[in-house]
Amino acid sequence: MGVIGGTGSGKTTLVNLIPHFYDTKTGSVYVNGRNVKEQGMQSYLREKIGVVPQKAILFKGTVRENLLWGKADATDEELMQALKIAQADEFVLQKGGLDAVVEQGGKNFSGGQKQRLTIARALVRNPEILILDDSSSALDYATDAELRKEIRALKTTTFIVSQRASSVMHADKIIVLDDGKAVGIGTHETLMQECEVYREIYHSQYDEQGGAV
Ligand SMILES: Nc1ncnc2c1ncn2[C@@H]1O[C@H](COP(=O)(O)OP(=O)(O)OP(=O)(O)O)[C@@H](O)[C@H]1O
Ligand SMILES: [Mg+2]
Repeated sequence: MGVIGGTGSGKTTLVNLIPHFYDTKTGSVYVNGRNVKEQGMQSYLREKIGVVPQKAILFKGTVRENLLWGKADATDEELMQALKIAQADEFVLQKGGLDAVVEQGGKNFSGGQKQRLTIARALVRNPEILILDDSSSALDYATDAELRKEIRALKTTTFIVSQRASSVMHADKIIVLDDGKAVGIGTHETLMQECEVYREIYHSQYDEQGGAV
């Protein structure tokens, strides 16, 4: 599922309702048929949903310690596999592998590297639902595309939040948000025909021939 819209349109607010980070004022949110407000749902949601928040947060320590925060008993093999899917294995190996030092706030890693490490952390838990809140905004198009390919192959229900059409256009379904409202839900093709806001976003990023602007 892709979620697209301008800054402040409500993307983060929407996806944060899924793990019940806060309550709805009206309406209800169901995960696998159960209201997220139900008794006992909090631990279920924590276990089943992997959230990569918009702002990547890393702790002082090693790469291994940062990843184990997702699943304390994960093996090195599982950690490396998660890094690989997140397109983070190469730079981590260059920095010394799982024992590589992470400085306070992860400041010895670039913005895009931090994003990929936090994605890997969420993947370590093998979540049934993966929420990526603008988690690849600092990646170049090729790396972003490779990441999406790997994640698609996992067959995990995934919400990809982005301001970029290229990050969501291949999703099975895209929600277009504008000023807190869903102004379109559909595939890239139907939205291009029916949703003005989606068309505007697309054309601001692609020229008439479909090349990236
Ligand atoms: N804690 C809060 N209290 C009050 N208003 C908030 C709070 N968090 C967000 N908002 C407001 O809700 C609206 C939606 O914000 P949201 O963070 O969901 O947007 P977004 O689509 O994720 O934007 P961005 O692309 O910049 O991340 C904005 O107008 C924002 O100012
Ligand atoms: Mg946001």
